[in-house]
Amino acid sequence: MITIISSTNRTGSSTLKVAQYYQKRLRELGAEAGILSLSDLPPNLIETDLYGSRSEAFEPIQDIVTRTHKFIFIIPEYNGSYPGILKVFIDACSFPESFYEKKAALVGISSGRYGNIRGVDHFTGVCHYIHLHVLPLKIHIPSVHKELDANGNFFKDDTIKYTDEQMRKFIEF
Ligand SMILES: Cc1cc2nc3c(=O)[nH]c(=O)nc-3n(C[C@H](O)[C@H](O)[C@H](O)COP(=O)(O)O)c2cc1C
Repeated sequence: MITIISSTNRTGSSTLKVAQYYQKRLRELGAEAGILSLSDLPPNLIETDLYGSRSEAFEPIQDIVTRTHKFIFIIPEYNGSYPGILKVFIDACSFPESFYEKKAALVGISSGRYGNIRGVDHFTGVCHYIHLHVLPLKIHIPSVHKELDANGNFFKDDTIKYTDEQMRKFIEF
């Protein structure tokens, strides 16, 4: 099972739009994927689901994570790194059944010039620590507000080419 993690809880995020694009394009390439948006996390997660506690609200989310063997993380750049909510989510998920010896592809996006190169590197370190194997081809999309058309699709040739290449390699990964 493939799950695309929309790695922010910000309402109206570009991250969720990119996650939806990846889901649509993966289907066209022959792979079904679900989306888990971090905006669906329980709002009081830091009180109810860290350090061994588990709430009823988090159980269906944990169930999705446990059943997933391949993750695609769409990761926005927040203050030069990945969002804090993504680390809280990783810390809240059960160990080791959540990520250990599973696979991931990483996509960085930003409104600025760098497409979250640093944040994706930071998150790669976390992935390595938890034995989540990262596809070598990582994608960085700067100026993301100029990348999606009115239907939520990438339209620039290079963006389509490299995101397609990543998705094809991830299906084989
Ligand atoms: C808290 C916060 C910090 C941000 N920091 C950066 C940054 O360091 N560099 C950058 O290029 N964009 C930054 N942005 C802009 C996001 O990259 C931009 O909103 C982009 O659309 C991806 O985030 P989104 O999915 O929340 O829309 C920041 C946005 C927020 C909400």
